[in-house]
Amino acid sequence: MSKPYVFITRKISEEVLTPLNQIADVQMWNSESEAVPREVLLQEGKKADALLTMLSDSVDEELLNVASNLKVVANLAVGYDNIDLETAARNDVIVCNTPDVLTETTADLAFGLMLSAARRLAEAHLFVKEGQWQSWSPYLLAGADVHHKTIGIVGMGSIGTAVARRAKGFGMEILYHNRSRHDEAEKELGAVYKSFDELLELSDFVVCLTPLTEETKNLFDEDAFKRMKASAIFINVGRGQVVDEGALIHALEQKEIAGAGLDVFYKEPIGADHPLLKFPQVVALPHIGSASVETRTTMMELCRDNIIAVLEGRAAKSVVGR
Ligand code: DGY
Repeated sequence: MSKPYVFITRKISEEVLTPLNQIADVQMWNSESEAVPREVLLQEGKKADALLTMLSDSVDEELLNVASNLKVVANLAVGYDNIDLETAARNDVIVCNTPDVLTETTADLAFGLMLSAARRLAEAHLFVKEGQWQSWSPYLLAGADVHHKTIGIVGMGSIGTAVARRAKGFGMEILYHNRSRHDEAEKELGAVYKSFDELLELSDFVVCLTPLTEETKNLFDEDAFKRMKASAIFINVGRGQVVDEGALIHALEQKEIAGAGLDVFYKEPIGADHPLLKFPQVVALPHIGSASVETRTTMMELCRDNIIAVLEGRAAKSVVGR
């Protein structure tokens, strides 16, 4: 009997793949930095029993409908908005993601981005690097304090809760908005539930960690930014399309908010000419929320284990959409 065929859409650790190689014929798109071209993905999809995909690959109806052998899609991300779950379910394709293993790493990044935007770390680094440092001066690159301020977390899932734990250590007042109340965060961290509008009005730092869904698309619109304090800093480590970028640019231009730290964008990757990059008070990162070597390796291992489980007829560890 021939081995099942697994296609991986980006170059990942060979070492991680060793157990998968024993049960399957595994091929991968041999580039770490360039996404697999669409036509290659469609061709490979036609043959594959399993796909290991990136959040930048669109696993849509077209792909799922030509993938007649496909049993499992393991997405190297906790988010799965790049996958058409309805068609996957209709075609009996199991979709897996990588929850939990990236929680603390992504929370570190969210908190680091908040510190960086507030204390102007990226600007200060450039200042030194470009040889502009002439003397110590009292208000040189003076930013805003983070400790003992109010953080408003939109999307209190496991990453939101991990950010709240960090905020507690900084003596911050913690507000949150979520689809449902989070008893544990309320009891253990003193987090206070607020309506979306109240949270925007009261927070010094508004941290967006919500997944992208029909309901959250463009959630942060002109009205949302207008409600924020003029001193507020907006942080997005969720998904870019949760923010109306035109509205964010307008809010920064009009000084309706003081700054932003962004790990995600409406359409990724962005170029150096993106209008958000003209603001010195914006810190921009290339979607690296979960990008520590340890965590990315663990995410790859989880994807691998999910694929092996499905191909061997066992239950996968982390299944979505079922
Ligand atoms: C995810 O896993 O969805 C993150 O955005 C990756 O950094």
